Amino acid sequence: MGEIEDIGSNPSPRDPIRAVIRRRMTRRAALRGLTGAAAGAVLAQDLVGEALAQVASAVPASGLAFPEVAHQDSKSPGQAAPEGYEIQTVIRWGDPVLADAPAFDPASQSAASQAAQFGYNNDYLDFFPLPKGSGSSDRGLLVVNHEYSNTNLMFPGIGEGRGARLRSNAEQVAVEMCAHGMSVVEVARRGGTWVSVPGGAQNRRITMHTPMRVSGPAAGHPRLRTNADPTGMRVLGTLNNCAGGNTPWGTVLTAEENINYYFGGEAAEAGEQRAHYRRYGIIKDSQYAWRRFEARFDLDQEPNEPNRFGWVVEFDPYDPNSVPVKRTAMGRFKHEGATHAVSADGRVAFYMGDDERNEYVYRFVTARPWNRDDPAANRDLLDEGTLSVARFHDDGRMEWLPLAHGTGPLTEANGFANQADVVIEARRAADLLGATPMDRPEDVETNPVNGRVYAMLTNNNRRTAERARGPNPRADNRHGQVLEIIPPGAGTDRVDHAASEGRWELFLVAGDPKRHTGASYHQGITENGWLTCPDNVTFDSKGRIWISTDSSEVGGITDGIWAAETAGPVRGLTRCFYQAPAGAEVCGPRFTPDNRTLFLAIQHPGEGRGSTFETPSTRWPDFVEGMPPRPSIIAIVKRDGGEIGS
Ligand code: FEO
Ligand code: CA
Repeated sequence: MGEIEDIGSNPSPRDPIRAVIRRRMTRRAALRGLTGAAAGAVLAQDLVGEALAQVASAVPASGLAFPEVAHQDSKSPGQAAPEGYEIQTVIRWGDPVLADAPAFDPASQSAASQAAQFGYNNDYLDFFPLPKGSGSSDRGLLVVNHEYSNTNLMFPGIGEGRGARLRSNAEQVAVEMCAHGMSVVEVARRGGTWVSVPGGAQNRRITMHTPMRVSGPAAGHPRLRTNADPTGMRVLGTLNNCAGGNTPWGTVLTAEENINYYFGGEAAEAGEQRAHYRRYGIIKDSQYAWRRFEARFDLDQEPNEPNRFGWVVEFDPYDPNSVPVKRTAMGRFKHEGATHAVSADGRVAFYMGDDERNEYVYRFVTARPWNRDDPAANRDLLDEGTLSVARFHDDGRMEWLPLAHGTGPLTEANGFANQADVVIEARRAADLLGATPMDRPEDVETNPVNGRVYAMLTNNNRRTAERARGPNPRADNRHGQVLEIIPPGAGTDRVDHAASEGRWELFLVAGDPKRHTGASYHQGITENGWLTCPDNVTFDSKGRIWISTDSSEVGGITDGIWAAETAGPVRGLTRCFYQAPAGAEVCGPRFTPDNRTLFLAIQHPGEGRGSTFETPSTRWPDFVEGMPPRPSIIAIVKRDGGEIGS
């Protein structure tokens, strides 16, 4: 998420290993005769250095042979891919998804039109081959999150600034509620060009009005009951869907992230829920106008409604009638994503970041192995399992601490009457367990080749010098880092993703090494090889990492994609593959099974100070006068038909 994703709500992050880490820093700094901030920078360099094969002079050739894209100035209105590659726009905000969708007309939008058209601010995207089970790379379903709306870029006359979201009228709020949610849309490659297929048999729009079921420990709990739903089992809609993931059994997971922006009311400042609200960033003032027109976003009328959001939601993308399910066993926090890795014993681990400053990295492991032969056996696999949170030690070890009611501090004495309380207040449970506060954990995803788990830690300007250590080595961290979690067995064909311990290393520390203290990569990167604010990630079939970024303007460039080998002599040598238009963050990224198409979600083009519907900083991708910028899915293909990066 872009400009509004900077409210930290962990007021007193604790780090149980603080003293030990400081010893390590002191020892290393002493070896180099350094102290303070300089010692932190050295530590970062050392940790990366331990992980990288350092190359003093000539840089060995990378398997990534594309001509590197030059960094763009952060105000550049256009985009760039390597020479020899083609960028195709697949679907834009407002394009038809359902058969009865009207053509997009920014001057006359309605909730009914938007509910049949592609939504706003595409974040997570996934590709599900068609026909199901075919492994096709030429036809499939794109499954896309629509995370939030930029009122001032969607509608004329709103003006600029943060307060713009409060200026929507009733009709515009109704449009916004349908611009949120998800799209499932058929896409096909015809004559070499990717196109969307309006009215495709499985096409679907999910909005704030789509009925969903609640399952797991919090289903039906009094804290989830409202006037509209006295059962606490049925919720309308999914909110602020950032990234996501999929399951080995073919369903999709969508992650509810910054749910707090939509709620407001005096109740946030009073009553027994106050501490709970605050821990989740729910305050008196909302950032959207919704609560003026929809009672359920008004805390004074529906104080429990926020408890019905902040979950991971599962549904079958191949069945447009499937009812999405909020899987409460996976915990409630600001979910960035939920990506899976099958453990050696067949149980399935889901890695999840809680994207806020000083929040945590989580893992959910199913109680039972998944069943390859019986889809029905997997239907409710996500309702039973162990939710854990990560604690990182200074010496490269890490632990997974279970959030299990009745164990350790998670008892009635601390306000946890049962597992429902634990999952509803997962953040507070993790606080009590002594989890390690991180630098905004975004995507956490497993490399299918080496079995290591890569966490994108995007930035943290609240990281103080005394808390700069271990996997979060820099104070006032504006650029982020990429962390590797190494489960037992990584690098073999028996990786234990259910283990209670692992190891960690830093893969890279982001920023421009020439300007930003502590930035560290393979020594051979070019002037375009550095990146800042890593956010989403994917891996190609050779195990190479493809990192997308959010908020690169802090480094003076536009967001984009950088790729690197994860093993061998050029491990960590990031190269710039794509640059986005001004104001946009790059999400997705997702390869087709044949690695010959890379889909990207270009979110909030034109966002930023001073940019409005009338005078946006870019009119990407149409560049037509009067047409506002449009969040869109693009496909990047190689002109010679080869694999991406080859
Ligand atoms: Fe929605 Fe954490 O980015
Ligand atoms: Ca994100």
